[in-house]
Amino acid sequence: MSVISVKNLKKYYQVYQKEPGLTGSIKSLFSRRYQSVRAVDGISFDIEPGELVGFIGPNGAGKTTTLKVLSGLLYPTSGQVQVLGFTPFDRKSQFQKQFSLVMGQKNQLWWDLPALDSFILNREIYEIPPANFDKTLKALVKMLDLKDILKVQVRKLSLGQRMKCELVAALLHSPQVLFLDEPTIGLDVVMQKKIRDFIKNYQQKFNATIILTSHYMGDVRELCDRIIVIDHGKIFFDGKLNTIIKKYATHKQLEIIFANPITKDQIRKLTRAKIKYFDPPRVVLSVKKSLANSLAVKLLKNFAVADLNITEPAIEDIIRQLFGDRELA
Ligand SMILES: Nc1ncnc2c1ncn2[C@@H]1O[C@H](COP(=O)(O)OP(=O)(O)OP(=O)(O)O)[C@@H](O)[C@H]1O
Ligand SMILES: [Mg+2]
Repeated sequence: MSVISVKNLKKYYQVYQKEPGLTGSIKSLFSRRYQSVRAVDGISFDIEPGELVGFIGPNGAGKTTTLKVLSGLLYPTSGQVQVLGFTPFDRKSQFQKQFSLVMGQKNQLWWDLPALDSFILNREIYEIPPANFDKTLKALVKMLDLKDILKVQVRKLSLGQRMKCELVAALLHSPQVLFLDEPTIGLDVVMQKKIRDFIKNYQQKFNATIILTSHYMGDVRELCDRIIVIDHGKIFFDGKLNTIIKKYATHKQLEIIFANPITKDQIRKLTRAKIKYFDPPRVVLSVKKSLANSLAVKLLKNFAVADLNITEPAIEDIIRQLFGDRELA
């Protein structure tokens, strides 16, 4: 049975529209105008136990809204949602004890207290038996290398340290289902990798079911076998990461190591392929998929080539292409 099941979920926000200026304010006293924002507009998917699914799409696509509905923070406008057999917005305590929502942009720890105090508070809220609490905390502190900072006021921690503590707070009650909304946002690459590795380890160790949103394609590439791409509140793609590359990559990349000096003009005389990178002897060309092989042959015929590789473009490039210039999140 699916752990998460979403059927034709819609969430529309009513946004109050006020005309500018004083007249607008007075008018609005008498008649309010609302506009409906279709944040989530009829999405359906199922997630099986132990899956780690990447939920990606540009800013405003509806990702956070979906995760909030799945966590029971928001009522949907329509549609069915089941998580672990519960309807999230019933907010049953049995349900609350089995999932966690972590938001990279939001602080859930007490700012003026050491993280340890927030952990102890969670022990009470989630009614975690003390022996379990001690054991889980010890394991998490070890996995995240947090020993020295548990007693430091949260406000004095670095962003990365704080994020690690947020994860601990979210995991102390050993939830089976995790919603991670941009858990690596704003972190440097080293810390991003640490958090990413931790998520992977955690998922493998406990067979947790995880939905992850991220700005960083590195997270998605390394963690998620399956991705759901959402745009304007609708699902645009749901499947394997590799499939989206095969399906939507219109171009391939030719990486050539020339054996002799080469100029851009020499390449342009031979082909209209885009020169993506030029630092001889290494040159990278982007060429239509269907033309990749014949261009490779042409290059080998016309130049002394030390090495040549044809590769798929990076997932970043494909997603950027799909969503134009809008920022990917
Ligand atoms: N509380 C709210 N009231 C009104 N509109 C909202 C509210 N929250 C979100 N929206 C709107 O709903 C749409 C979806 O927002 P959401 O936060 O779910 O997007 P997102 O995919 O998480 O984007 P991002 O990548 O920027 O975090 C956006 O158009 C947003 O402006
Ligand atoms: Mg969001």
